[in-house]
Amino acid sequence: MTKKKLARNSEVIMTEMVLPNDTNTLHNLMGGKLMHWMDIVAAIAAQKHSNRIVVTASADSISFKHPISLGNVVTLKAQVTRAFNSSMEVFIEVWAEDIPANKKILTHRAFFTFVAVDQNGRPIEVPEILPETPEEIELYEGALRRRQLRLVLAKRMDPKDAVELKSIFEQEAKGDKA
Ligand SMILES: CC(C)(COP(=O)(O)OP(=O)(O)OC[C@H]1O[C@@H](n2cnc3c(N)ncnc32)[C@H](O)[C@@H]1OP(=O)(O)O)[C@@H](O)C(=O)NCCC(=O)NCCS
Repeated sequence: MTKKKLARNSEVIMTEMVLPNDTNTLHNLMGGKLMHWMDIVAAIAAQKHSNRIVVTASADSISFKHPISLGNVVTLKAQVTRAFNSSMEVFIEVWAEDIPANKKILTHRAFFTFVAVDQNGRPIEVPEILPETPEEIELYEGALRRRQLRLVLAKRMDPKDAVELKSIFEQEAKGDKA
């Protein structure tokens, strides 16, 4: 295994402006356009960590709570939370800013998974992640549970092997009895 790399070194910040072509008939940003930007910013973060070609393996559920209006400035921040063998989980946060009104809100948080591949598209090993800040450590620790959940849902893992995931429900059940 190659030596560990700092989580913060994978950070990518991307800024876009919502233009007429990006919007729906209500003049709000199209969901698909936002997901496209999220995919790009997250792929760059995964590339920075692995120094490899990466492909999107999955995107966890994304909900659209706040519409983002025409003319808003959208800032997307992505960072790798944890690397496994060939896959990396990337955390993405999105802010929408109305600069003339001086308003900025966090609109989305999502996790995407990328796999580093060789020239033939075969998965290849990536360096481990070294988290430093309390937030990076929390994201790193939660990544194993989220990985097990997405692999179970993708039918790539037998639920009985999802030990970390099961432990959450066991803790909840103990809490209910206490
Ligand atoms: C992602 C891909 C490389 C996995 O290849 P594979 O032959 O299934 O390889 P493996 O079973 O060895 O899995 C490789 C890694 O992918 C991860 N993975 C596969 N499917 C996944 C999913 N749905 N969600 C999260 N991780 C996934 C595995 O957990 C494994 O991670 P690890 O090496 O860190 O343990 C392959 O499915 C692929 O090329 N998919 C198309 C990617 C693409 O075109 N993306 C653009 C979106 S349209």
